[in-house]
Amino acid sequence: MKYNNIITKQENNAFIITINRENKLNALNIETLQEIKHAVLSVQNNKEIRGIILTGKGNKAFAAGADIAEFKDFNDEQGTKMSIDGHSVMNTLENSKIPTIAAVNGFSLGGGNELAMSCHIRIASENAKFGQPEVNLGLPPGYGGTQRLVQLIGKGRALELLITADIINAQQALEYGLITKIVPIENLLEYCKELINKITEKSPSAVAKVIECVNKHFESTQSGFETENKEFGNSFGTSDFIEGTNAFNEKRKPKF
Ligand code: COA
Repeated sequence: MKYNNIITKQENNAFIITINRENKLNALNIETLQEIKHAVLSVQNNKEIRGIILTGKGNKAFAAGADIAEFKDFNDEQGTKMSIDGHSVMNTLENSKIPTIAAVNGFSLGGGNELAMSCHIRIASENAKFGQPEVNLGLPPGYGGTQRLVQLIGKGRALELLITADIINAQQALEYGLITKIVPIENLLEYCKELINKITEKSPSAVAKVIECVNKHFESTQSGFETENKEFGNSFGTSDFIEGTNAFNEKRKPKF
């Protein structure tokens, strides 16, 4: 598939999606979001791909938000549709069977930060900056930000950021738990690829089950526990389970 706003590339077991609107600070117009969704879905059954990296072109922005120029004249109905369609993109990343990593290489604002928060792991460069500045535009976040920010950093910190539109740096984001690591920008992609190398050594079916169970927690803890019961049970007899337990007994590394 030919994309207009993103670049996709496979490198070993990593699938890298780069938002390619550098002169607009990788602002997310609707087409870009749909392309990201398409790209993520396109590799779900590709057994070679063991991790997806999402990043922005250049060294200034991951994504500086939804494309304001595109939505500024929207009416209520168009706004609601924009939000619903945006949620579907974010849910696609969050529910991906293959782990998704946001390599945050600069501004991660508004819809850009909502995109990063929909990924399973967030790694940032030293110059990264995070925020939900929508209240400056007379809007609340519309791509899940009011929920995922609370999930990741807690209600008090989330409300402060959402209400003040404050922008925080990478160090603060690390302290808040919004990201898990800061690396120099020149090492950002390499670090994320190493993470995928590590994940590649693990059972892909077990990794997918972990993602599913953790996501279910946010429906309800009960639902999370029940999913864990089911998926734990479903693992027995799978080829990954046989390989993993045989490898342990034979004192060798498993090959998944
Ligand atoms: N939507 C559309 N275009 C955007 C954008 C967005 N969210 N963010 C940046 N751009 C565009 C700018 O309009 C500008 O385009 P132009 O050169 O055609 O005028 C270009 O990207 C560069 O941005 P600029 O504002 O000149 O860069 P800066 O370094 O002075 O400021 C920011 C960087 C991130 C502080 C500033 O761009 C900004 O505040 N962006 C909007 C952030 C936001 O509110 N996001 C939430 C949207 S839901």
